[in-house]
Amino acid sequence: MSECRNSIFHRTSVRQYEDRPVEKEKVGLMLRAAMAAPSAMNQQPWEYYVVTRREMIGRLAESTPYTGCAKEAPLVFVACYRRECLRPMYAHIDLSASVENLLLEADALGLGAVWMGIAPLEDRMETVKEIVDMPDGLEAFALIACGYPAKEQTQQDRYDETRVHYID
Ligand SMILES: Cc1cc2nc3c(=O)[nH]c(=O)nc-3n(C[C@H](O)[C@H](O)[C@H](O)COP(=O)(O)O)c2cc1C
Repeated sequence: MSECRNSIFHRTSVRQYEDRPVEKEKVGLMLRAAMAAPSAMNQQPWEYYVVTRREMIGRLAESTPYTGCAKEAPLVFVACYRRECLRPMYAHIDLSASVENLLLEADALGLGAVWMGIAPLEDRMETVKEIVDMPDGLEAFALIACGYPAKEQTQQDRYDETRVHYID
């Protein structure tokens, strides 16, 4: 099992990476964290592609106007979900929890990652599905570029007390 050292207050979106591969063991820990997420009725609709093939990373990087930073990443996860699950209307929410877990584990392992949205935009979902050659029952949810951060980044403090409503 993964040691729980997630750093919620350290994670940032990392879009520039060292030219250095991510160890298989760390990839395994990130996937384990991703699948430790909560999901509606515990349906666990997620599946992940782990892409290190340069040619495919290049195509994924060009799949939307906002995914260019994936181009130089040593690794891109494609988070996807099974269309047939117990509560399909919750699949995107479940995947969001899963991707956040993966990002936090990446950070805890000294890696950096960025979530790049694909779902719910159907044209982008179709494009990514085609690039990865997913079977019919799977839908693309997000791309997560990952690698060792090229520079230090500091997280913004976004705590805003005016958004908290206490009811005693
Ligand atoms: C649903 C979602 C979609 C996102 N899509 C992109 C994207 O396409 N490209 C990108 O560079 N960052 C993307 N991001 C990252 C956000 O830009 C980033 O989380 C936000 O600016 C806050 O910065 P931080 O992650 O460093 O705290 C996405 C984040 C989320 C949650």
